[in-house]
Amino acid sequence: MKYDFTKSVVYNFDTVTSTNDFARELITNNKIVIVTALFQTEGKGRNTNHWYGSYGNNLYLSIGIRHNEVLTAEEIASFQAIGALSVKYALLKCCPNKTFKIKYPNDIYVQDGEFKKISGILVEHGFAGSFCSYSIVGIGVNVNEQLFHPDIVDNVTSLLKIDCQSDINKFQEIVLNEFSKIINLNTQEIFTLWVDELDIIGKSVKVLNDNFTYIANKVLIDGRLELINTLNNEKKIIDNGDSIRYSLS
Ligand code: BTN
Repeated sequence: MKYDFTKSVVYNFDTVTSTNDFARELITNNKIVIVTALFQTEGKGRNTNHWYGSYGNNLYLSIGIRHNEVLTAEEIASFQAIGALSVKYALLKCCPNKTFKIKYPNDIYVQDGEFKKISGILVEHGFAGSFCSYSIVGIGVNVNEQLFHPDIVDNVTSLLKIDCQSDINKFQEIVLNEFSKIINLNTQEIFTLWVDELDIIGKSVKVLNDNFTYIANKVLIDGRLELINTLNNEKKIIDNGDSIRYSLS
């Protein structure tokens, strides 16, 4: 087994700036760290967004892995997939009657009439030159959150809001259990599972600030998405999931 989670070091905090930032500090002296908090004062989302959540109501979890060997670009990219798959499988275990989808690359949505976001994942890597020295998978899941900012209230939800009660600690244990299984699969297997779950190939995709229509053609091995312009067959490569829109159903 490549990553032995029985040897991980767990830090449960009350309040931190961001569990990802604490994991980054703590990974220096550990091979695998698991950092949780009841509250984040500066929770981070992708693309410099903030990740908000109230005290004690949600899962704020970061898993830090220190690398001793050189990782391929595919292995580095696979951390996005490992995070998304772990959360999706854990959610499905807790709420088997609900439909969960991974939105490219690693947001998790649940069907509640419309699809609504229930989890976000922020993966960060540290490099020494071209050597990837650590990876941090930061996982936020809305568990018992009831109040959301008016700007996003229609597009987000929590386990509580979809009538799927769950104990945060128990849910965290399920996520970590899934994570420790998936991270030990080979990179090709992880990639195949992720692409299957994404279910985006062949779908019509809109790109922000772009009037063309595209079809998702393939997920490249480094995790980027290749689109084909329906008008002129030109390829477009996407590396930021927030710059595209497509239907999850
Ligand atoms: C996103 O959807 O934009 C990603 C959100 C990631 C939020 C989690 S909460 C735990 C970890 N710590 C952070 O500061 N961010 C991630």
